[in-house]
Amino acid sequence: MSERVVTLAVPKGRVLKALVPVLARAGVAPSALLGDDGDRRLVRELPELGLRVLLLKPDDVPTWVEYGAADFGVCGRDVLLERGYDLYQPVDLGIGRCQMVVATRSDREVLPDPPRIATKYPRIAAAHFAKKGIQAEVIFVQGSVELGPITGLADAIVDLVETGETLRQNDLVIREVVTEISSVLVANRAAYKLLGARAKQIVELFGGL
Ligand code: PRP
Repeated sequence: MSERVVTLAVPKGRVLKALVPVLARAGVAPSALLGDDGDRRLVRELPELGLRVLLLKPDDVPTWVEYGAADFGVCGRDVLLERGYDLYQPVDLGIGRCQMVVATRSDREVLPDPPRIATKYPRIAAAHFAKKGIQAEVIFVQGSVELGPITGLADAIVDLVETGETLRQNDLVIREVVTEISSVLVANRAAYKLLGARAKQIVELFGGL
């Protein structure tokens, strides 16, 4: 691969680790992506692929891509659904798989109408209940969402579940699956067109096409 360096925005943490085997197939050493202990650089150069990787907070990845400060990005469908970005989504990477669910206390199966819902995803939650003709009262919280039903803040939560352990340990149960979530490759629409064949190489690298 030659020509201009392509910029890829990725989330730090679990998703970055999950990308290691994907890029290893293209000959990238894990240390080139992950760095060594104590490595605080936020840019990782992968010259063998003509790629520059930006390390970001997960919620910020689509912002970099939408403004064109990154050509491509890796982000969860949860963030895309919640904020409604206009990004090209050429590949579902199949990593970071989890479910967006409605959960309540195990002893509270029936929700009042209207229900109060605690969530980090107010748009997804409101749309889910609106589709069923229910105008839920949605309370935005940043984390520890599971405390909502336990403390009386809310009747239910809309949140991500991966192993189910957090729900189980807080005596909550899944009542509905709102949607399946995974990480997708996203691209800035203008950059994708301008990059032409180079963009297709990146998509192939990530298992699309
Ligand atoms: C997420 C999510 C749940 C938990 C689910 O939170 O909001 O709380 O993971 O995972 P599990 O089903 O495997 O137990 P995260 O760990 O990202 O922390 P947060 O509450 O700060 O968002």
